[in-house]
Amino acid sequence: MSIQVEVKASRHYTVQIGEGLLDAAGALLREKTAAGTACVVSGAQVDAFYGDRLVRSLEAAGFRALRFVHPSGEEHKNLETYGKLLGFLAGQGLSRSDLLVSLGGGVTGDLTGFAAATYMRGLDYVQIPTSLLAMVDSSVGGKTAVDLPEGKNLAGCFWQPLAVLCDPALLQTLPEEELRCGAAEVVKTAVLRDEALFRELEKAGLPAAFTEDAIARCVRIKRDLVEEDEFDRGSRKLLNLGHSFGHALELCSGYALGHGQAVAVGMTMIALASAEKGICSRETAERLRALLEKLGLPTEPEIPGKALLAALLRDKKRSGDSMDLVLPEAIGRCRVERVPASALEEWLRLGGAK
Ligand code: GLY
Repeated sequence: MSIQVEVKASRHYTVQIGEGLLDAAGALLREKTAAGTACVVSGAQVDAFYGDRLVRSLEAAGFRALRFVHPSGEEHKNLETYGKLLGFLAGQGLSRSDLLVSLGGGVTGDLTGFAAATYMRGLDYVQIPTSLLAMVDSSVGGKTAVDLPEGKNLAGCFWQPLAVLCDPALLQTLPEEELRCGAAEVVKTAVLRDEALFRELEKAGLPAAFTEDAIARCVRIKRDLVEEDEFDRGSRKLLNLGHSFGHALELCSGYALGHGQAVAVGMTMIALASAEKGICSRETAERLRALLEKLGLPTEPEIPGKALLAALLRDKKRSGDSMDLVLPEAIGRCRVERVPASALEEWLRLGGAK
């Protein structure tokens, strides 16, 4: 039995959540596509754990299964890896009726999705997320991208998957630090729209972040936001809570700070600044900081404010002379506010930047 969440975006698809879906993938995908070839894309570590099982499952369902293994890490989500993947697909003669299968975390999902959107002007792809972050956020909603030297996700497009298969058993091999990073996105979702989930995390800590129920609740909230605003012009921007400051922190740390860690610091900063401005209570900001610390996530910005400001001003989310910030009003309720670029220094200072 798995939990099913239907997504009705420009393409309709199902996110299935349940243990055992990796081995059932071939049969499940056979019901959705007549593709002859399925190319599995994964990072080296994930391929070593799960590549053989997925290939066996696909072959048993009659697919010709190929594997493209890329080096692990955000620094490889770039044009070079993307070019190699496209070259591999062309060399193997994949056509538009074939299938890509992303087996991995956010890096693999974004890369595979972008290749699927652009190879021969677009073919189907499936997301099989193996990290908590990818299960609760990046595998759903069709955002695809690679990074440029100038910043994260600067080349990309929207391309919805054919299906998402989320098997929480795959989290057993995830390093604890990455589990904590994924938990930052669970906290983010709870702060956006699920106060009860926030309380469960406060009570039970990390284990409450990766139950099937918690994953499904995050996926439903993400689904709702994607259905409201697939192309990120309005309410979907709420999913950037903690991310504007977070991306700047990530960039300035040379990616030494993981994405989830940077988002945890970014959320704390924006909550503290919102409390200073009377948008949320001090208690809300302190509750958020305490939960993130309980989950083993950092909350203090170690990067100088000047460097953060420079990175923020380069961020792609800045449009013209302003930037959209996501501001918590209470646990379970946030709003998007356009802030002039000239005010960002003050927001950073109120958020604790030195
Ligand atoms: N990860 C944010 C979004 O999908 O909009």
